Amino acid sequence: MPILQVMKHLNLTTQIEIFDSLDEINSTEQALVNAAKEACLKAYAPYSEFNVGAAVLLENGQIITGSNQENAAYPSGLCAERTAIFYANAQYPDTPVTSIAIIAMNKNGILENPVAPCGACRQVLLETELRYKKAYDILLVGQSSIQKIKSSKDLLPLSFVGEGLIKSKARSPKSED
Ligand code: THU
Repeated sequence: MPILQVMKHLNLTTQIEIFDSLDEINSTEQALVNAAKEACLKAYAPYSEFNVGAAVLLENGQIITGSNQENAAYPSGLCAERTAIFYANAQYPDTPVTSIAIIAMNKNGILENPVAPCGACRQVLLETELRYKKAYDILLVGQSSIQKIKSSKDLLPLSFVGEGLIKSKARSPKSED
């Protein structure tokens, strides 16, 4: 039996800025974190009792918030990040996202460590970056620290970006080609 050798390696790196407290981030980011906290309190999470809040800052200065919305048919619920991003994109389809703050709470209060978005939310965060051709800051907030990620590509390396999807001629009225 020949011994098969690995010919190449791909090493991926992710850069995360870490802040120990809210005092270390700027006032715009602080306002966004506070908006995410408020949104967290509005979650509808009777099944998991795990509240998540997300606040999206748009380039026009608007802050859009969202929280997780659960359902007795569990998969019908939606995470806070997608609630907020989809609402922002639906209301302001031509306005890029500048940053998003995400925070979570359980019965003991705000989580100690920054909350990491689920895979499906990462996919949606990435599409928003690609859609507006602009990377935006992602602030993951915990009691003990805040993590800042400068692009959702860092949250979702080796992502599915629709390459190879065959586009039909019939597309939205706004499509150019
Ligand atoms: N959840 C979010 O809202 N965002 C995430 O990124 C992870 C999970 C919600 C979904 C569900 O309502 C609850 O947290 C427990 O998974």
